[in-house]
Amino acid sequence: MRGRTPRWRWLVAGGGALLAVAALGSALAWSLIFDSVLASQMELSPSSRSFKEWEAPSVPLYFEIFLYNWTNAAEFPEEKPNLVQLGPYRFREHRRHVNVTWHKNNDSIAYRTLRSWIFDPTSNGTLQDNITTLNVIAASAVFRSRFWGFFQQKGLSMGLAMFGQKVSVSKTARELLFDGYEDPLLDLAKSLPPSTTGGAPPVDRFGWFYERNNSMDTEGHMEVTTGKTRGTLPGQILRWNYLDRLPYYEGECSKVRQE
Ligand SMILES: *[C@@H]1O[C@H](CO)[C@@H](O)[C@H](O)[C@H]1NC(C)=O
Ligand SMILES: *[C@@H]1O[C@H](CO)[C@@H](O)[C@H](O)[C@H]1NC(C)=O
Ligand SMILES: *[C@@H]1O[C@H](CO)[C@@H](O)[C@H](O)[C@H]1NC(C)=O
Ligand SMILES: *[C@@H]1O[C@H](CO)[C@@H](O)[C@H](O)[C@H]1NC(C)=O
Ligand SMILES: *[C@@H]1O[C@H](CO)[C@@H](O)[C@H](O)[C@H]1NC(C)=O
Ligand SMILES: *[C@@H]1O[C@H](CO)[C@@H](O)[C@H](O)[C@H]1NC(C)=O
Repeated sequence: MRGRTPRWRWLVAGGGALLAVAALGSALAWSLIFDSVLASQMELSPSSRSFKEWEAPSVPLYFEIFLYNWTNAAEFPEEKPNLVQLGPYRFREHRRHVNVTWHKNNDSIAYRTLRSWIFDPTSNGTLQDNITTLNVIAASAVFRSRFWGFFQQKGLSMGLAMFGQKVSVSKTARELLFDGYEDPLLDLAKSLPPSTTGGAPPVDRFGWFYERNNSMDTEGHMEVTTGKTRGTLPGQILRWNYLDRLPYYEGECSKVRQE
């Protein structure tokens, strides 16, 4: 018995070491398996788990916005504007990626995003709230004229008065946000040459998110990586509206790059 004890010890120690090696080995294997499963799930492919969630996210998304009520607009310019914060006006956002096209040749995917917003009753306010705010349409016209000569500016000022334009407007939250409101200046702008309106597209109503609801044009056409190529992540932008550089900047800063 006495002579056997060390052998037992060796056996136990050896077994332990073997187990440790096996554990390490399986841990390594697991981490490899885990990585490859994770990569395959992260990767955007028609069969991946993340794809369904990406295509039509099921997690609730909320869009919240605050508006400011100009409570002493009648006293302008004698009194300093007093702005009262209203909101948040809360909207449940539904987002879907549509017109999904797979490009197998370069591991990319092209799509558009369709978004819609439903007013949420937990908002601190209603869409019928009557809000007084800066007359953005007239203010833009005045801003456009900042480098004009004295007589042109005088002409614009008389024109604005003729159209009954004031420095403020009172509209409902619904009109200011999604429904938009009509304005004679917008009709006038439609008949002017684009050079006078700064190339702004003609519109019939003004609202911050007018025509954005149920629209595919808010975000534009996107082309992103699928993450299939080793070392790339899914969803990195390759092209936006078919362009690989943005028309708003120049040089290096305008490039759409994945880094
Ligand atoms: C905004 O201010 C105007 C003028 O003071 C007031 O009549 C109106 O009730 C205010 N709107 C809200 C939603 O509080
Ligand atoms: C709700 O709005 C009122 C002003 O209209 C403000 O006093 C109040 O703090 C707001 N409540 C929340 C929870 O934001
Ligand atoms: C894009 O998707 C929308 C909504 O699903 C559909 O109505 C439209 O026909 C599609 N356009 C193209 C070019 O596939
Ligand atoms: C990827 O391939 C598609 C289809 O051939 C092509 O339309 C797209 O421009 C390519 N994208 C890039 C970033 O090269
Ligand atoms: C957006 O459109 C949906 C469906 O047409 C409509 O139910 C919803 O009220 C609209 N949202 C807003 C803020 O107008
Ligand atoms: C909204 O508020 C303004 C300023 O207080 C007021 O002149 C206007 O009549 C109100 N509009 C409505 C629809 O209540």
